[in-house]
Amino acid sequence: MIIAPSLLAANFARLEREVARASRSGADWLHLDIMDGHFVPNVSFGPAVVAALRPLTRLSFDVHLMCSRPEILLEPFAQAGANRITLHVELGNRIDPLLWKVRSLGLPVGLAINPPTPMRAIEPFLKKIDLLLVMTVNPGFGGQSFIHETVPKIQQANRWRVERGLSYHLEVDGGITDQTVTECAAAGADTFVSGTALFRAPGMAAAVKRMRRLATRAASHADLAPRTTARKPASLAS
Ligand code: DX5
Ligand code: ZN
Repeated sequence: MIIAPSLLAANFARLEREVARASRSGADWLHLDIMDGHFVPNVSFGPAVVAALRPLTRLSFDVHLMCSRPEILLEPFAQAGANRITLHVELGNRIDPLLWKVRSLGLPVGLAINPPTPMRAIEPFLKKIDLLLVMTVNPGFGGQSFIHETVPKIQQANRWRVERGLSYHLEVDGGITDQTVTECAAAGADTFVSGTALFRAPGMAAAVKRMRRLATRAASHADLAPRTTARKPASLAS
């Protein structure tokens, strides 16, 4: 189980200390939400901020691009120290070249899908990705309520992974708390992005530990088919 605190919920006036807090918490990844004020109605931070944070932590940087023109941002984020880059499937027919571009920068690549977008939009790309992010809120803001109608999408993504012998991470993002993590893990999610519930918890380390325990327990009770443990690199050949 991978726990990824989202920096969007941090105190932006003290980013250095907030990153240190996440580093010490026992989390696995730091989730970085990049918003351009066009693809989503909010603006967050860019490559210069990510580059400034890079020397402060060994956490893996999980970059989630909510941007209309990711093509101009891939190289800057790779140089800034991203460890993987996730793009939105809603970008339509530009997905294939974008996946190639991220891969050519030497990084694993993810695809995210918004709550209203049908899963058939992401199906053609399953073999080409390292991570599938099912958005559990409409992207743009932290602190929103989990949309329960997204759970069947998590189940579908997990079914495809098992049936087709694929090994992408199955990530969920938005409204993930001690209550909702269980439902997601039982549906097959293994990677949990959480902003408010972790950064605003009284103790982040305890909150990370609790979330991981709840997820692990829910997955084992759900008797999910085991994921391939040796991660095969996704192939860009179709
Ligand atoms: C939403 C972002 C999320 C956000 C999650 O657009 O993609 O990563 O930070 O925040 P919480 O956990 O507060 O819902
Ligand atoms: Zn995100």
